[in-house]
Amino acid sequence: MSTMILGRDGQVGHALVDALAPLGPLQTLSRADYDLADPDQRESLAQRIAQDRPALIVNAAAYTAVDRAESEPGLAHQINAEAVSVIAQAAQRVGARLIHYSTDYVFDGSGTRPWRESDPTAPQSVYGHSKRAGEEAFLASGCRGAIFRTSWVHSIQGNNFVKTMLRLAQERDRLSVVADQIGAPTSARLIANVTLHAVRALRAGVMSGGLYHLSAAGETSWHGLAVYAIERARAAGAPIKVAAGQIQAITTEDYPTAAKRPKNSRLDCRRLCDALGVDLPDWQVDVDQTVNGILVAR
Ligand SMILES: NC(=O)c1ccc[n+]([C@@H]2O[C@H](COP(=O)([O-])OP(=O)(O)OC[C@H]3O[C@@H](n4cnc5c(N)ncnc54)[C@H](OP(=O)(O)O)[C@@H]3O)[C@@H](O)[C@H]2O)c1
Repeated sequence: MSTMILGRDGQVGHALVDALAPLGPLQTLSRADYDLADPDQRESLAQRIAQDRPALIVNAAAYTAVDRAESEPGLAHQINAEAVSVIAQAAQRVGARLIHYSTDYVFDGSGTRPWRESDPTAPQSVYGHSKRAGEEAFLASGCRGAIFRTSWVHSIQGNNFVKTMLRLAQERDRLSVVADQIGAPTSARLIANVTLHAVRALRAGVMSGGLYHLSAAGETSWHGLAVYAIERARAAGAPIKVAAGQIQAITTEDYPTAAKRPKNSRLDCRRLCDALGVDLPDWQVDVDQTVNGILVAR
């Protein structure tokens, strides 16, 4: 039974290549193989799925430039919605299971209660709209599988907030970081490991398909995450320039961005934990690993 991974070079895609090895042969594909923004290449991918008939397709490819999406709505929609539609329909035709990833940005970010899968969506940004359209395309296709909505992804590979903060903390005396957006930093490694558990549970018929929320346990702000990661790096001997106490907490309004960010990014992951019989680790556990990995990779 072969597995096809799309988005091999991204944070989650890279982690999936390691985590899903126990499933057997993996076909790993990147933008160089199929540019999902190109309708002809999407069609070629659909033909490949029809021909190779993988048992499992894991789509970690996405347009993730949240602010740039505001000026490139067409491109974001092509990759995050049109491509998902083509992949999901191709998966449905050959009976492949599809695992796909989405985001808390499908919600409006209001309130303080963690979002449940059954809560109404109301994206506030082009990226959020494109990801919600991708979810709808998956669900409309009738393909088997699951969508995991996650949040605040970090890893040793690729670009992410933790990496940016560690770089800035070594260059600057002081930093200002938004403290009124709350969520759970989630490692690509955790997402990939949970994906393996979920695929096994889906195959065994002990987990039903559909939408699930998947983030590490606990919550913090971007400011809390920056302070935590920087102090871990300092303790590990990294040449941190910013003094402890010089990381200023600011508001969303103090830091205008092209895309509107949700203040409440909390995801309620009970449905997934119950389905798999697991507890998800606290966010600090994997941030420690990412910080150590980034420092070692230097
Ligand atoms: N990052 C987050 O904080 C976050 C939060 C919530 C949900 N998610 C979701 O989690 C999933 C994985 O995200 P991630 O953080 O791993 O993203 P990522 O690191 O940005 O990786 C996305 C991958 O998609 C590929 N891609 C982009 N445009 C493409 C195109 N036109 N054709 C083919 N491939 C293309 C990229 O290729 P290149 O390497 O060539 O650029 C990259 O390898 C996505 O569905 C994302 O929406 C992410």
